Amino acid sequence: MDRLDGPARLMIVSDLDHTMVDHHDPENTSLLRFNALWESLYRHDSLLVFSTGRSPTLYKQLRSEKPMLTPDITITSVGTEITYGDSMVPDEGWVNVLNQKWDRNVVLEETAKLPQLKFQSETEQRPHKVSFYVEKGHAQDVISSLSDRFEKRGLDVKIIYSGGIDLDILPQGAGKGQALAYLLKKFKEGGKPPINTLVCGDSGNDAELFSIPDVYGVMVSNAQEELLQWHAEHAKENTKIIHASNRCAAGIIEAIGHFGLGPNTSPRDSSDILVSKLDNFNPSHEVVKFYITYERWRRAEAEKSDLLIQSLKHICHPTGIAVHPSGVEHSLHECIDTFGPHYGDKQGKQFRVWLDRVFTSQIGSTSWLVKFDKWELTDDGRHCSLTTILLNSEPGNPGAFSLLHVHQTWLEGFAARCQNDWIF
Ligand code: GLC
Ligand code: MG
Repeated sequence: MDRLDGPARLMIVSDLDHTMVDHHDPENTSLLRFNALWESLYRHDSLLVFSTGRSPTLYKQLRSEKPMLTPDITITSVGTEITYGDSMVPDEGWVNVLNQKWDRNVVLEETAKLPQLKFQSETEQRPHKVSFYVEKGHAQDVISSLSDRFEKRGLDVKIIYSGGIDLDILPQGAGKGQALAYLLKKFKEGGKPPINTLVCGDSGNDAELFSIPDVYGVMVSNAQEELLQWHAEHAKENTKIIHASNRCAAGIIEAIGHFGLGPNTSPRDSSDILVSKLDNFNPSHEVVKFYITYERWRRAEAEKSDLLIQSLKHICHPTGIAVHPSGVEHSLHECIDTFGPHYGDKQGKQFRVWLDRVFTSQIGSTSWLVKFDKWELTDDGRHCSLTTILLNSEPGNPGAFSLLHVHQTWLEGFAARCQNDWIF
């Protein structure tokens, strides 16, 4: 989070299952739309926070299954674990806060007395979270019985019911809302409170997020009954919270527009993608659009025209070079020429391309370096190459620029698989 010089323009704090990630959409359409929007227009000055009920183990599993971005901050295990960056460095301060007034053994002793509680898997039992399954019909009784028992033992805990099945027991000071409040306080103390914060959720454990002062909130269209009911009882008058008309990530995009938090047209929403509509030259936006065009060409979703090849060539400098991870160099124009025959070669097959961690630095008055992780998903699995692009903009002409140099390196372990990979 020290990545930004100033306060974040927008901090999105989003739940994952059935909020950012739509498990009913195998194509991941809205997630990919969100990714392209975030990387092209927000990554450089905003913060992405994932807040999930999953343990780090199940969170990593989800990341390997779905085309998810790397968040700046990851909050796992229902707000009991806060970590930073891709390497997920834990926030020790938060651990200390939660250690106060928490006795896991008392939780285990009391819950063992209720046969309606079925233990969740071992991975989901965490230092500050004990989790069970409870049938919907028993939930209310179980919760009040547990509350009495804990009170008698002098333990102040939080009991959260989500998705009509999951029951989590946490320290009273934990939860997704408290974790967010802790982060906001930290940002404020560091002199960088986000300008706007948008929280996004679909189920019971997300309710707390919506009660944090001053945040905007979106309950996605597919939100669970328990969240909608919480909203009706506690936050009905709050005009900063909406129930979106779109599912999952499309609901998040909708909320960005509804609250006027910034642009909400994803590069994936346009068909004439190579035409630049921005007033200022934005290298991330150009690079994201370039790869969407590449994906569409191979999926036969772009029009098959020489014009498109010509436009692609036009944005590649005549002396531009691409360096393949194997070390082989090609002229950029040569690479674009190889596009042609591959039109539609991925039609009807699994093929998606998305960029993660797009970072731009201006290195001269008209030149820019753009670095990113390029992910490609095919029927053979997915792989990532670290890519650096050098490009030049044309002063006074926002749409005009040229690619000078493209350099890719493989992520460790992928080398063998990608020998015949495309240059882009
Ligand atoms: C996730 C976690 C589970 C938890 C549930 C609701 O599914 O894996 O342990 O009970 O979220 O918070
Ligand atoms: Mg959810």
